[in-house]
Amino acid sequence: MLIAGNWKMYKGQGETAEFCIDLRRHLADLEGVEVAVCPPFTSLAVAVQVLAGTDVAVAAQNVYWEPEGAFTGEVSAPMLRELGVYGAIVGHSERRQFFGETDEGVGRRTRAALDAGLSVIACVGETEEERERGETEDVLRRQLSVLKAEDNLVVAYEPVWAIGTGKTATPEIAQQAHAFIKSLLDVPVLYGGSVKPENAEELLELPAVDGALVGGASLDVDSFASICLSASRS
Ligand code: PGA
Repeated sequence: MLIAGNWKMYKGQGETAEFCIDLRRHLADLEGVEVAVCPPFTSLAVAVQVLAGTDVAVAAQNVYWEPEGAFTGEVSAPMLRELGVYGAIVGHSERRQFFGETDEGVGRRTRAALDAGLSVIACVGETEEERERGETEDVLRRQLSVLKAEDNLVVAYEPVWAIGTGKTATPEIAQQAHAFIKSLLDVPVLYGGSVKPENAEELLELPAVDGALVGGASLDVDSFASICLSASRS
């Protein structure tokens, strides 16, 4: 079971340090759950520093496929490794929607990150229109076609209509999509999309749900810790 907090573009170094100090205290006795926080690039170093010696891992929110070069604005896997970062999210729907990332790019980012020794949380999920048109499985199949099952790869199923909207997938929808993903790719599958302390337990106890990628509710240390505790009971 893995609970990862995707902070998106929130928390500079000061807030990150404060959050991580609190998180250490909250999770001191947690057992049976892997926990990761994914701060913005500029806050990674301080998170690694404050969480050193704990079981909480630090991951980035993206990673580029070339190790170095003239790629303004990008950060490479070896650079993240040097910071002591353990992994990266790849292909988040906000990257696809707002920054033009493609399936092919997601595949290349994932490959390079895994080859450099990072773990990867690769995100997939359909939009509301795609679900309404009955295309969910086609979309997932296409998004997953650039990935192959291997150690250190985890997929996050994040239906776009459930991200930041307060609309969580029903347990039936989540279970069905996760089972479909697992039939194509034998990897752990996290659920993401409006996970909060109130719904974490019913999602995490589903047989095909191996954890959660939490956005909004991961920004508050009490609610994030409470989701981690739910995971330890599931
Ligand atoms: P949310 O975001 O929990 O705020 O819906 C999830 C995500 O984008 O990873």
